[in-house]
Amino acid sequence: MSEVGPGGNPIPAVTPDTESPIAPVTTGVAAAAEPAQTPPAPPVEPAGHEVQPVAEVIPAVPLETVATPTPPPPPTPDPARMFVARGVVDLFLVSKMANRHGLVAGATGTGKTVTIHSMAERFSEIGVPVFMADVKGDLAGISQPGGGNNKVEERVAQLGLTDFAYTAFPVIFWDIFGEQGHPIRSTISEMGPVLLSRLLGLNDTQAGVLQIVFKYADDNGLLLLDLKDLRSMLQFVGENAKSITIEYGNVSAASVGAIQRGLLALEQSGGGNLFGEPALNLSDLMRTDKEGRGFINILAADKLMRSPTVYATFLLWLLSELYETMPEVGDLDKPKLVFFFDEAHLLFDDAPDALQDKIEQVVRLIRSKGVGVYFISQNPLDVPDVVLGQLGNRVQHALRAFTPRDQKAVKAAATTFRVNAELDVETVITQLGVGEALVSFLDEKGTPGIVQQAFVVPPRSFIGTIEQMQRTKIVNWSPVQGTYDTPLDRESAAELLKAKAERAAVAEAAAERAEIEEKAAVQRAKDEAKAQKSTSPHSRSRSQPDTTAEMIEDVAVTTAKEFGRTAGRGLIRGILGTLTGRR
Ligand SMILES: Nc1ncnc2c1ncn2[C@@H]1O[C@H](COP(=O)(O)OP(=O)(O)OP(=O)(O)O)[C@@H](O)[C@H]1O
Ligand SMILES: [Mg+2]
Repeated sequence: MSEVGPGGNPIPAVTPDTESPIAPVTTGVAAAAEPAQTPPAPPVEPAGHEVQPVAEVIPAVPLETVATPTPPPPPTPDPARMFVARGVVDLFLVSKMANRHGLVAGATGTGKTVTIHSMAERFSEIGVPVFMADVKGDLAGISQPGGGNNKVEERVAQLGLTDFAYTAFPVIFWDIFGEQGHPIRSTISEMGPVLLSRLLGLNDTQAGVLQIVFKYADDNGLLLLDLKDLRSMLQFVGENAKSITIEYGNVSAASVGAIQRGLLALEQSGGGNLFGEPALNLSDLMRTDKEGRGFINILAADKLMRSPTVYATFLLWLLSELYETMPEVGDLDKPKLVFFFDEAHLLFDDAPDALQDKIEQVVRLIRSKGVGVYFISQNPLDVPDVVLGQLGNRVQHALRAFTPRDQKAVKAAATTFRVNAELDVETVITQLGVGEALVSFLDEKGTPGIVQQAFVVPPRSFIGTIEQMQRTKIVNWSPVQGTYDTPLDRESAAELLKAKAERAAVAEAAAERAEIEEKAAVQRAKDEAKAQKSTSPHSRSRSQPDTTAEMIEDVAVTTAKEFGRTAGRGLIRGILGTLTGRR
C-alpha cells in the first residue's frame, strides 16, 4: 500500500521546482477568449473591506492575459478536472487527486456549505457518487434546479460564467429516523465495540467488558442486530459472568450495569434507530444515474445533530465500513466515492488519543480504496494536525481574528498553504467575502498548488431547503425505494438467547427427570448387584451438563450451528472495531 505518498504530507511539502502548477490552465483558456468577460473583480463584498492586499496582487498579473482569456467551463464536464473556483486563474480539483482528501474551513456564514454543494455537483457530473450529511437541511436543494437567487446571479455575472445553466442533480435522501429519507441502519455487530463504547460513553473498564461481550458473540457466530440483541447478550454475560471471566477476562456486574444504563440513555436519545435491518448495503451509496452522473447521497442530519456523538459515531462507522469492505484499488482516474464530513470537529471532540490515532489511520488508508474524504469545519484547529496533514485539497473561507484562538487559527491556516509571493495570506484570510476563499488543490503530480484567492463557482442547483412534497417525490422515485423502508427482525441474538434459555430450561427438566431415572436405575442396579453379588461401573447421564462452562459450550455449539446460515464463525474486526468484509 502506498498510502504515504507525496500527498501523505502534502501541505508543508513545498516543492520549488513546480512553481506554476496551474500555468497550463491559464494558457489553455487563452484560446477561447470571450470579450465580454471581465476578470474576477477584486473583492466587491463585503463593502468596506480593506482590499489593498488584493489590489496589490491583481496588477502583478498582466491584466490583459487575465481579462480576455477567462473562458466559461466546458459545457461537457472534463472528467479529468473539476472547475471549482475562479480567481486570477481558474482553479480545478484534479479528479485523480480527489482521493487525497480535503478541507473546507471558514467562519460561520462564509460559504462553506455552498462550496461543498458546488463541489458535490462537480463530482456528480463526472460520475462520482457523493455522500454528505445535511446538517441544516440546506443541501436538500441539490435535488432541484437553481434559479431566482440574486447572490448566485451576481456571482455568475461577476465571474463571467457564460454557459452557466441551472439544473437538478440525482439525489438519494437518507435519514436515520426514516422521516426525511430512506432509513439508514447499521447493526450492533457491524458497528463493533470501539465505536459503540464511544456511543455509550463508557470508560476503559466498561469498554473492556463490552469488548468481551463482542468477543464472545463473535466467537460464537452470534449476530447482534439491534439494541434488543445487545441487551439480551449483556444479560446472558452478566448471568454467566463467572465462567465467561475464566475464559475471556474479568466481567464485573458493575460494568455490565453501566453498559446497560448507557444503552438506555442511547435509546432515549433516539440512537436505537441506528441499529437494525435491513442494514445499509454500501453499494447503494455508489450509484450513478442513466446519464452517468453520480448520485449525491444526502443524510438528513438536522435532528441527528441534537446528539452530536451519535452523528459523529455514525459517520465514523460509515467511513470505517467503507474502508474495511472496499477493495484496494491504487490510483484511479477519479474516486469511487467522495465523503463530505460536515461539523468535522465533532469527530475529534473528546475523542481519546487512541481513537484519534485510529481515525487518522483510517483516513490515511481509505484513499487507496478510492474514497476521498472532505472535512468541513469552522476552525482548522479543530482538526488534529495528523489528520490535517492528510488533507491535500483546501478551500479556506474567511476566518475572524477577534480572539487569541481565532488569531492562532488564522496563523495556522496561513502557514499550511504553499506560499504565493503575491498574496499576504494572513491578512487576506480575515478579509475574504462570502463565497470567496483561499484555494489550493493538488496538481496532477500531487504537489499542492500555490494558494490563490478566488471565488467559488456557485451551484447550478437550488441553494436551500425544499418542500416536503418535493422530498417525498424524490424518495418515492429513488433507486433504493423499497429496499430499506420496512424494518426486518430476523432471528438474531435476542431470539437465539431466548431460545437458548428455553432449551436450557427444557434440558434442566429433562436432566432432573434423567437424574431421578438414573437414581432409580442405580438403585435397581444396586439391588440387582446385591442379588447377583457383583458390581457394575457407575455412568452419568450423557445429556446433563454439570457446570456453567459446559452449558455455555453446549449453547455456543448449538448457536453456532443455528447461525451457520446467517453469520460465519469467528467474525473479524478491523482498525475501528467494525467488521471486515460483509456477512
Ligand atoms: N459561492 C457562492 N456563490 C453565491 N452565493 C454564495 C456562495 N457562497 C455562499 N453564498 C451565499 O452565502 C450564504 C451563506 O453561505 P453558507 O450557507 O455556505 O455559509 P456557511 O459557511 O456554510 O455557514 P454556517 O457555518 O453557518 O453553516 C448562502 O446562503 C448564499 O446565499
Ligand atoms: Mg453551513
